[in-house]
Amino acid sequence: MAMYDNRCLSLSVFALTLLLLASTTTQEEEEESPITRFQQYLRIKTAHPNPDYESAVSLLTSQAQSIGLQAQTLEFAPGKPLVLVTWPGTNPSLPSILLNSHIDSVPAEPSNWLYPPFSATRTSEGKIYARGSQDDKCIGIQYLEAIRNLRFSHNFKPLRTIHISYVPDEEIGGVDGSAKFAASEEFKDLNVGFMLDEGQASTTDEFRVFYADRWPMRLIIKAVGLPGHGSRMYDNTAMENLMKSMEVISQFRGNQFDLVKAGLAASSEVISVNPVYLKAGSPSPTGFVMNVQPSEAEAGFDIRLPPTAEPDLLKKRIADEWAPATKNMTFQIREGGPMRDYMGRPLITAANDSNPWWCIFKQAIIAAGGKLAKPEMLASTSDARFMRQLGIPTLGFSPMIETPILIHEHNEFLKDSVFLKGIKVYESIISSLSSFDGGNTFGSATA
Ligand SMILES: *[C@@H]1O[C@H](CO)[C@@H](O)[C@H](O)[C@H]1NC(C)=O
Ligand SMILES: *[C@@H]1O[C@H](CO)[C@@H](O)[C@H](O)[C@H]1NC(C)=O
Ligand SMILES: [Zn+2]
Repeated sequence: MAMYDNRCLSLSVFALTLLLLASTTTQEEEEESPITRFQQYLRIKTAHPNPDYESAVSLLTSQAQSIGLQAQTLEFAPGKPLVLVTWPGTNPSLPSILLNSHIDSVPAEPSNWLYPPFSATRTSEGKIYARGSQDDKCIGIQYLEAIRNLRFSHNFKPLRTIHISYVPDEEIGGVDGSAKFAASEEFKDLNVGFMLDEGQASTTDEFRVFYADRWPMRLIIKAVGLPGHGSRMYDNTAMENLMKSMEVISQFRGNQFDLVKAGLAASSEVISVNPVYLKAGSPSPTGFVMNVQPSEAEAGFDIRLPPTAEPDLLKKRIADEWAPATKNMTFQIREGGPMRDYMGRPLITAANDSNPWWCIFKQAIIAAGGKLAKPEMLASTSDARFMRQLGIPTLGFSPMIETPILIHEHNEFLKDSVFLKGIKVYESIISSLSSFDGGNTFGSATA
């Protein structure tokens, strides 16, 4: 029995030690901080095609409530919730400030990552690895952390009401997310005067800011022609006509790209045209039938236009040169949201002194000890276009300096120090914007 007792004792001591170790670790993990709250959000698998919106909604709601903010869930399409957080201003009749971010992210291939993409692993260098760490769960949490500090450390009270929106589906076009939100009665009731949305990391010590997005247009070209023996040369086969069309498109693409290479335009200022798929041929058990010229051929393109481009000119070019009906070619265009605002103007937010919101934003960055790079157009597309369409001045901004641009890439990470500095920057921006006493003249209708 004594032997058993001894073993029992040593076992229980061991177990106790383990328990102590375990409880210390748990305590450390549960010690809430801006970083751990960021990690909690990063660990929710909100990647397409099956984003876990439910868990994200409950996390964001509880984080908002923990700082005494109202949070409501709106749903404009089944299973696609949107969280709207509100901090009422002392003068709620003034147009409000909206801080937007999207909950969803693009998929990640774990085998290409140093750490599992939803582990939010923080390395000894302070890099936090996760899908969504830059795009754009960082800003989603920074908004809340900045407000937490303004409320509890600075006893700040906003003049204008501040809203934060967490929207679904940005990465798949925003149709059931921001597009429906912007068109809703609920949105109209927010009386938004100015909006901040996501931006991109900067590799230098200057913050980047975006005043316009490029407009996405998906193009599919189809060619048909008489099929024939693979040995015969004759005119106007589907393949020949599609190949000629590809040559013309390549020429156009090359001319646009040359402007960028020569330093005459930023890549966001030209029309990009990139082939994304080719489809033709008759499948056979071993691959493709090699001695028949097919009667159909098809190609798809991702096209992005700067906001000042004339889509009608490009459409004419497509009809006349890229997919001429005289060559038995047809085309389909899918437009990615609005190209002009409700007054027919390009979707551009003035990033100069004519826009008081711009001045306040710029001053706030400087006040936080930051430097601002020359404002840019975003080469890709964000939800901001839906709000610019309503005439609401909107800037794209994510406070990440000295950070490699890793959106949609393997091993996306953000350094903890960059994340924390971003909270300070938002404290300055949010307090400045929400204190702006511009009267009622800067509403969504007049801005
Ligand atoms: C268009 O296709 C039809 C049949 O698919 C063919 O008869 C005609 O010759 C083609 N025309 C051209 C210009 O390729
Ligand atoms: C400000 O920017 C807008 C939009 O880019 C432009 O139309 C306007 O001319 C600029 N105004 C000044 C004073 O530079
Ligand atoms: Zn994004």
